[in-house]
Amino acid sequence: DKGLRIADKGYLNTAVMRSEITYIDGEAGILRYRGYPIEQLALHSNHLETAYLLLYGSLPTKDQATLFEEEVLHHGVVHSDAEQFFRSFRYDAHPMAMLTSAFAYLGSYYAEANPSLQGMYILSSLLGWLTPGTDDILCTGQTLYTKGSPESLAIMDKQILRLIGKATTLAAMAYRVRQGRDFVTPPTGLSYTGSFLYQMDHLGQENYVPNPVLERALDVLFLLHADHELNASSTTVLQTGSSLVDPYSAIAAGCASLYGPLHGGANEAVIRMLISIGKPENVPAFLEAVKRREKVLSGFGHRVYKTSDPRSFIVRKTADEVFKVTGRDELLETAMALHDAAMKDEYFTSRKLAPNVDFCGLIYRAMGFPLDFFPVLFAVPRVVGWLAHWRQMMLQDGGVKIWRPRQIYVGEGKREYVPVDQRV
Ligand code: SDX
Repeated sequence: DKGLRIADKGYLNTAVMRSEITYIDGEAGILRYRGYPIEQLALHSNHLETAYLLLYGSLPTKDQATLFEEEVLHHGVVHSDAEQFFRSFRYDAHPMAMLTSAFAYLGSYYAEANPSLQGMYILSSLLGWLTPGTDDILCTGQTLYTKGSPESLAIMDKQILRLIGKATTLAAMAYRVRQGRDFVTPPTGLSYTGSFLYQMDHLGQENYVPNPVLERALDVLFLLHADHELNASSTTVLQTGSSLVDPYSAIAAGCASLYGPLHGGANEAVIRMLISIGKPENVPAFLEAVKRREKVLSGFGHRVYKTSDPRSFIVRKTADEVFKVTGRDELLETAMALHDAAMKDEYFTSRKLAPNVDFCGLIYRAMGFPLDFFPVLFAVPRVVGWLAHWRQMMLQDGGVKIWRPRQIYVGEGKREYVPVDQRV
């Protein structure tokens, strides 16, 4: 097989690239964005400032942070066509299916063909001005980037700002379609997360009263979910983006991957699991069913973290803050009983299973979000991490290489065709 080395199942212990964005130490339970510990960012930073850090590699100055926030919020408005697009879904369509489609929909009219760059590229190619490797033209979808040229970087960064700005608006539109309610133009004068909550508001905007505790809690959860190295959805974005398709389509692919119950869909699955368990006294029987592989213990286990997910401690602290405002969720007792029983049970401890970030569903439930909307609350902030990895790939030295792994063929050897009337 020409010296091919097969990766372990599910890419276990397989590194496919080098990155400067996020560092995870699964044994020590460490998570850092561009070197800053997640605990410090959760305490002192906010989602948009952390987004800037993940995208551009350093914490923004006050002016940079102000301009970044203004630009992201400016891109919060979507074309009125989007209303027709969302209205085309059945009233009970899953919001993640709508959001995934909405990102691809953006690509249908934002993967702008850039005539000036297109013209220059064709002319340059004809006249042989292009010296491969220095002026390599990166073409994504209909958009041409000239590596290193300020105009191209401006187009790329504008697409990034658009996607971050529109993620909350599209999410809110998916929610309001489900509620059978009119859409809301993003307000001015509110923060990124505040603007999202305003658009999600169940009471109707005229009565909207911002709740600073809930807004801060959601912003911390957004920050926690912003990036996580090469998880399944980030890998999907890079695999898709490596064909130089536009970033909107690559993000749509990542969103589809996140939707699954083994990944971002787990925060919804955790609550469905707790509801199915019911009272704390049912926990032992449930855990026995998990050991018999009849049930899945959602919210536990992680490919990388083998001691604890550092985010789960911050989720726990945030939950305490939120429950002071919303009151405790009756599922909390069951969740605590499940946690305590699993962490004392050799079946789970021997497999190094600990709670992961997806118990945050208890907070979303207490804040009044609908259950199937929880993965959307994961996707919205994770757009930042997906784009940080995409940008890093687009600007890597030597240009973008399409991700095209090989396989080890173990099927049939060469066979001759048999006409159908001779087959038995
Ligand atoms: C996220 O990758 C990321 O960084 C993801 C994420 C991010 O921020 O992007 O952190 C977000 O997706 C968190 C994970 C959310 N998923 C869940 O909570 C779903 C439940 N968890 C499992 O499905 C599982 O733990 C995974 C998918 C998270 C990890 O699976 P792995 O790494 O492939 O581990 P595995 O399936 O090989 O498990 C090893 C052993 C197996 O036992 P054996 O078959 O060898 O006897 O542990 C068992 C598994 O059966 N196991 C579990 C279990 N998770 C693993 N047994 C019961 N319940 C579980 N939850």
